[in-house]
Amino acid sequence: MTPLDDNNESILARARQIMVENDRGGYTVPTAGLYPYQWNWDSAFAVLGFACFDRERAWLEIDTLLEGQWDDGMVPHIIFRRDDPDYFPGPTVWAAGHNPPSTGISQPPVLASVVRYLVDTGDATDRDKAIARFPKLFAWHQWFHAFRDRDGNGVIGVVHPWESGRDNCPDWDGGMRGVNVANDLGEYHRRDTGHIDASERPTQSEYDRYLTIVKFGREHGWDQNELVHNGPFFVADPGMQFILMRADRDLRELAISFGENTAAAKLDSWIELAMQGCDALWNPEVNCYCARDLKTGEFSDGITNAGMLAFYAGAGDRRQQEQLFEHADAILARVEFGFPSWDPRHPAFEAKRYWRGPVWLMMNYMIADGFANYGRDDLASRLRDDSQRLVDNYDFFEYFDPLTGTGCGGGDFTWTAAIRLVWQ
Ligand code: GLC
Repeated sequence: MTPLDDNNESILARARQIMVENDRGGYTVPTAGLYPYQWNWDSAFAVLGFACFDRERAWLEIDTLLEGQWDDGMVPHIIFRRDDPDYFPGPTVWAAGHNPPSTGISQPPVLASVVRYLVDTGDATDRDKAIARFPKLFAWHQWFHAFRDRDGNGVIGVVHPWESGRDNCPDWDGGMRGVNVANDLGEYHRRDTGHIDASERPTQSEYDRYLTIVKFGREHGWDQNELVHNGPFFVADPGMQFILMRADRDLRELAISFGENTAAAKLDSWIELAMQGCDALWNPEVNCYCARDLKTGEFSDGITNAGMLAFYAGAGDRRQQEQLFEHADAILARVEFGFPSWDPRHPAFEAKRYWRGPVWLMMNYMIADGFANYGRDDLASRLRDDSQRLVDNYDFFEYFDPLTGTGCGGGDFTWTAAIRLVWQ
């Protein structure tokens, strides 16, 4: 082994160790302290990491996540297996009335794509396991199309910024301005800023609004129709749109291979509708896919890493894709490490504040997959190399400053370790 291989091997060993240490007995926490429960898309990425060294453990992560599934098909954004004073708002604030306790909203459905990955890279055992879990995955996708495509036109919205997984991205600023903070929220004690410097976290005014939406859901018994039609917040999200589209395509491939013909036909119709729905997210002033407030019709006006998932989803026509590549080239020329969660040329860019600028490795993984599918292997390699350099020089942080590489947020982070492993 060369010293370089040696170094890589020790980084991979540490990535495996982080995943094992974040294991709480069948499910992983994103990081100790800051996020002490099971998060939905974090677990899906954890599966990719575990699959590199322990496939049984990978399937167990899927099963514990699916244990949280509601009767209507929703797989919630957090599963609270025990009350942990380290985190706010916990199970009693959500009061979603489920067992195991959970929040009342979902998160980007990466899981079907991950299951397809296990089938493609695995053997007959993986295939059998995927067949057994297919109905649950299908039910979850059906839930998205029934409860997040409010107008039945293939445009997927989120009822809370936390549902998008991109909590404080400027994409939500317009929709958040429309949330009137409840005057009876009472005093509450944020725990996140006890773990992480406040300059890297959402602001207090954002938190008041997050909790106002939770209060609405709780007071309406987490009735999803009520949330979508009359809730304080409903914003179309390119991230959710594209991740669901891609997951529908992956689930369709599985359906065909498993002889699930009715499901495959349904998935076809969802994909076709979503292809049309994407056009509603194309902001002609920016020439990119942007978030759009579905209450006012107003667009967000910045380029995000979520918009770049169009390739991952197989969305857009040739002209749109060319414009997206122009943006990608221009933005990557401005940063040391791609892909920033918000355009560094935009005045709202903040290099260290969570989803308002920083780089997230699991987003890079999906974006790079899309770039490669459309023949831009140069951009895909750039993101892969940047991601490796970030971990190798700045450690396994939650997210990173795109200008300096500094690691931010939580340390020893599960999805950062998982992506470093799958991209080894
Ligand atoms: C933050 C992120 C979200 C993630 C969660 C746990 O809320 O914005 O995407 O799922 O932390 O890591």
